[in-house]
Amino acid sequence: LSAYVDSPLISLLEFHDEIGSTNQRAKTLAVDGASHGTTVVARTQSGGRGRRGRAFASPEGGIYLSIVLRPERMAPGVVPVLITTAAAVAVARAVERVCHLRLDIKWVNDLFLNGRKVCGILTEGIADMENGGVSALVVGIGINFSTPVEAYPEDIRHMVRSLFPGEDKVPAGQSRAMLAAAIMKEVIDCASHLGDDAIWTEYRDRCFLLGKKIRVEGNSPHAAVAEDIDRDFHLHVRLPDGSREVLAAGEVSIRFD
Ligand code: BTN
Repeated sequence: LSAYVDSPLISLLEFHDEIGSTNQRAKTLAVDGASHGTTVVARTQSGGRGRRGRAFASPEGGIYLSIVLRPERMAPGVVPVLITTAAAVAVARAVERVCHLRLDIKWVNDLFLNGRKVCGILTEGIADMENGGVSALVVGIGINFSTPVEAYPEDIRHMVRSLFPGEDKVPAGQSRAMLAAAIMKEVIDCASHLGDDAIWTEYRDRCFLLGKKIRVEGNSPHAAVAEDIDRDFHLHVRLPDGSREVLAAGEVSIRFD
């Protein structure tokens, strides 16, 4: 993997065959002072974590990595939603460059290939106890690279797919290591351009929910049509009675047909 890493910003790269969670490990490194760009990569995770406290199945054939980002190395006024959405664009760019596949984004930061999830992103902050705010962010990315679908728990098999449906289907000249390196580079590049028009425009272009009927989950689940995404990455939806609602990332989850 290190042979493909061409960013001088990745100062420490830690590789594990198996680990509990790369996010957990990267947070420990961040607390111990790891610099911007420090990355933990694993072949499998025994305790992979997803959003909303869920487990994240991490069988062999996937790429599991977590990158430490330092706010002082990013644009001022950084808020987590900007990082998590920029990371989605970064992964999509890397996959397009290395694997020549176009990924769509499901608001807020799931990546889909032909209607099924291929990548999830979990961003976690480390509180700055002395000065307030966050001292570091950890962006964790799990991408199904060449995992056969049978390797996933039965209840999620119908919702997930891999970029390539098996190790023998990976095209010559492409590899997990090349993609992992490209993801690191793109995430670090995007982190220094947070809030740029280019990232927002690309994010909206890749959002396949726009114009679609969705279901807003939460305390009072209801149907709606996704209409737009604003500069703060809020989702604007129209309800069946014609009224509009503005949804913030993290407050609701979305289902679609
Ligand atoms: C989600 O879809 O809910 C987010 C999943 C994020 C999974 C990645 S895999 C690498 C990193 N380590 C973890 O424990 N989680 C993230």
